[in-house]
Amino acid sequence: MTFTSTPIALTPFQPGDTTGQPLAAQSTGGMPPQTVHIDLGDRSYPILIGPGLLDDAATFAACPKAAQALIVTNVTVGPLYAQRLVNKISQRYKQVDVLALPDGEAYKDQATLNLIYDRLLGSTADRKTVLYALGGGVVGDMTGFAAACYMRGVPFVQVPTTLLSQVDSSVGGKTAINHPLGKNMIGAFYQPQQVVCDLSALSTLPDRELSAGLAEVIKYGPIADMVFFDWIETHLPALMARDPQALATAVRRSCEIKAWVVGQDEKEGGIRAILNFGHTFGHAIEAGLGYGEWLHGEAVGCGMVMAARLSQRMGHVDDAFVQRLTRLVQAAGLPVVGPDLGADRYLQLMRGDKKSEGGDIKFVLIGDAPLASGGQGPGVAVTAKAPEAVVREVLAASIDSSARN
Ligand SMILES: NC(=O)c1ccc[n+]([C@@H]2O[C@H](COP(=O)([O-])OP(=O)(O)OC[C@H]3O[C@@H](n4cnc5c(N)ncnc54)[C@H](O)[C@@H]3O)[C@@H](O)[C@H]2O)c1
Ligand SMILES: [Zn+2]
Repeated sequence: MTFTSTPIALTPFQPGDTTGQPLAAQSTGGMPPQTVHIDLGDRSYPILIGPGLLDDAATFAACPKAAQALIVTNVTVGPLYAQRLVNKISQRYKQVDVLALPDGEAYKDQATLNLIYDRLLGSTADRKTVLYALGGGVVGDMTGFAAACYMRGVPFVQVPTTLLSQVDSSVGGKTAINHPLGKNMIGAFYQPQQVVCDLSALSTLPDRELSAGLAEVIKYGPIADMVFFDWIETHLPALMARDPQALATAVRRSCEIKAWVVGQDEKEGGIRAILNFGHTFGHAIEAGLGYGEWLHGEAVGCGMVMAARLSQRMGHVDDAFVQRLTRLVQAAGLPVVGPDLGADRYLQLMRGDKKSEGGDIKFVLIGDAPLASGGQGPGVAVTAKAPEAVVREVLAASIDSSARN
């Protein structure tokens, strides 16, 4: 399906001020949290964004009360932040447990998911028990799926601690685990009660993970908001230096754009697919190299450059835009040249992607139509099929063939 316009307008981008305080030292004192609303009728919820939210009990004042809560985290994030979350929510529950899962995408599987059910059943958790997902996208996706399934659904709260999970995975209700035959293939749409993006948690994130998150931030520009894209270009050094105000603006605007898309198409019948810009190529890179070799955000960064090149060859954007995006992705510390899996393998992997239908590969193209026929260029996106010959040209121009010889 292809779509070219949407009835609901996105609110204009409004950048914030710069405070310059170091991230870890911040409390909410001087800077009130910002709130972005996800508007989905009776499944609506707020996303709270700000530094020091984990140290402020008011952050959790609207979270559901119950006899029990279970904080699901992992062995990396748990020691850093779990006790602080326990302290802030313990007044709301008779019992608060913490479950630290092993760390890594390799554990986003059925066996690890069962550990969550084991703990819930072992402590006779009931249908009102609240799950808190404290960690990156792996913990968030797994905890959300466990919440969707345990007793046919218990409430859950997302407390994302990576940039990627704050700007993307914790928002919008996609939950899943991996199957040996495919990533995110077993899952559910299930919305959280609240999302808490504590920007101070990003102070401990490894640089490589920060860059991976920036890929998803950059993604929102070409698909929805070129004013934001300009802002990212100007503020990339501040973002990479973890300037709190720059991060606050980037997380807030990313969530606004995701909320705008998800509010129109919760279950990906149409426009939500634009959030997959760069992901068709990116998923092929991740799967082709073996999961974990490149981080998801790294594959998406490179995949966006490939998808922009495809958009250019389909006449939707000019070469200057492809160059601009390539420079930004590279400056964010992300790869811009794909691994040489061989064009046939790329095509095979892209045909097997969850988004493909009947063997046709669908791509997210930047620009709503060819420029020559009045297309508006970057800032909007469409999904479309592309001729295989053109995809092969793009692959030839985008992969590191020197690695083969
Ligand atoms: N549901 C969605 O809509 C959606 C969207 C995009 C991605 N995803 C999923 O998200 C996952 C990737 O998420 P991710 O990039 O957050 O990876 P991740 O959850 O694996 O986290 C990355 C690493 O950072 C560590 N970490 C997390 N927070 C930290 C902190 N504050 N300080 C120090 N270390 C910290 C983690 O332990 C892990 O080692 C993938 O499984 C992907 O499929 C889901
Ligand atoms: Zn992604």
